[in-house]
Amino acid sequence: MPQNRISIFDTTLRDGEQSPGCSMDLREKVRMAEKLEELGVDIIEAGFPIASEGDFAAVRAIALQCREVRVAALCRTAEQDVSRAAEALSRAVHPRIHTFCATSDIHLEHKLKKTRAEVIEMTRMAVSRAYSYAEDVEFSAEDATRSDIDYLCEVLDVAVDAGASILNVPDTVGYTTPPEMACLVQQVRERVVRDRDVLVSVHCHNDLGLAVANTLAAIEAGARQVECTINGIGERAGNASLEEIVMALHVRADRLPFTTGIDTTQLYPASQLLSSIVGFDVQPNKAIVGRNAFAHEAGIHQHGVINNPLCYEIMTPESVGVPANSLVLGKHSGRHALSLRYMELGYDVSASELDAAYRKFTDLADKKKRIYDQDLISLLSTAACAAA
Ligand code: KIV
Ligand code: ZN
Repeated sequence: MPQNRISIFDTTLRDGEQSPGCSMDLREKVRMAEKLEELGVDIIEAGFPIASEGDFAAVRAIALQCREVRVAALCRTAEQDVSRAAEALSRAVHPRIHTFCATSDIHLEHKLKKTRAEVIEMTRMAVSRAYSYAEDVEFSAEDATRSDIDYLCEVLDVAVDAGASILNVPDTVGYTTPPEMACLVQQVRERVVRDRDVLVSVHCHNDLGLAVANTLAAIEAGARQVECTINGIGERAGNASLEEIVMALHVRADRLPFTTGIDTTQLYPASQLLSSIVGFDVQPNKAIVGRNAFAHEAGIHQHGVINNPLCYEIMTPESVGVPANSLVLGKHSGRHALSLRYMELGYDVSASELDAAYRKFTDLADKKKRIYDQDLISLLSTAACAAA
């Protein structure tokens, strides 16, 4: 891969699914995974197989369905964790085993109840076991940003010697700041990676609202994989938002000369699909995919945008896949407008599916003032089920 290419590791179906109210069933996870593959992510973290039968089945099903993209499964360091992840991935074309262990003293003392020496041994065992199943092994040092740097580097060094080719330094509790994150990545590169063929990755949580800023700082310092989620869903305040990272790189290519494999026109459709699956929308003012992200209310702004959108828009709605037409769909809208909107959202709807969706649409329009794109996507899946 070229030096400036950033791998997008999507963890919507693992870390994202861990957030309250975001659980998905098998069918929904596979549907979302197909969309992520279409979006162009490099790695889909499909689940945590030892955690439940459902997670195991989802990883297996996604590995069977998504043949182009790399599919990752998460595991702790215990022997049965690693083998369960390997088993779930056994049919994947491009499997990755992602094993992790905490490295901060606070986690060692209060959660793992292990000494530093024991964690080093656990890391060595887990990574070499993972490497016996798959060539592609990622090691994450949980709570890396609150770990003692000398010890962190020691653990990461052991992971590389045991076979890990991706070293992830998560900001598990969303505590760090951009300059600190940059410094951490730089130290890991200088002290652990050196001239070895190992990728540095970051995984930032958003507890202080800094997840995307920290991720971008890490990229500038040499991280070449970033872990993120659609709509920024994830534990607590969430993970770094995929769409925000990708569009920051895209719009500010002058300052951030990095590329990704993402088809940016699929960002809004992916966001809408996720909202329809989990059943709640992103906040209206959410960057890139919120419903107000391209809305201009003040007269002076409207005037400027009408003359030239560049006055107040740094990217076009079309570039992120927001449908260009501004037809408001409501109880008086017809089949034609509905069919057009489905086309713009990337859905190829048959005549019978459209009929069924339209009936549901008019029922919904009687009850709801505004119908959003995510409602239309939900209608389509329920209508398709009813039609089938
Ligand atoms: O936040 C975190 O540290 C994680 C790891 C398992 C990568 O989710
Ligand atoms: Zn996380």
